[in-house]
Amino acid sequence: MTAQDIDWDQLTAAATAALANSYSPYSNFAVGAAALTTDGRLIIGANIENASYGITLCAECSLISELFRTGGGKLAAFACVDKDGNALMPCGRCRQLLYEHSIPGMLLRSTSGVLTIEQMLPDAFGPDRLAAPNVLIFPVH
Ligand code: THU
Repeated sequence: MTAQDIDWDQLTAAATAALANSYSPYSNFAVGAAALTTDGRLIIGANIENASYGITLCAECSLISELFRTGGGKLAAFACVDKDGNALMPCGRCRQLLYEHSIPGMLLRSTSGVLTIEQMLPDAFGPDRLAAPNVLIFPVH
């Protein structure tokens, strides 16, 4: 799959429509997200803030909940936007969250153009690492 295979205008429009679901009274910074799954579903999410600021859910969090609610699978393409429809970079935690549920090479619309999930989160810690033996290597003097 290449960036040309994705209808980025449609994905961005879905992310923009998702802004209507945002609950962001504390930051006043609404975020909408949309993704295509490998089986062709279009899913969305929005940020849901909390009076206890630190437990705010980013738009990516509700998008991943929606992924599971609608049948699971993996993300093939992703976009998130601010209230004006401008592309946003996912925060660090959400890059990790997206990585776990993406196909290798998943494409993201970013402020630097379309990037892969591996470009967005290089040398990621992922589920494969947990499967590897956790061997401690001591330096030999
Ligand atoms: N936010 C997201 O929804 N996704 C991100 O990747 C970055 C930040 C939200 C969290 C908070 O509600 C608001 O943007 C301001 O930080």
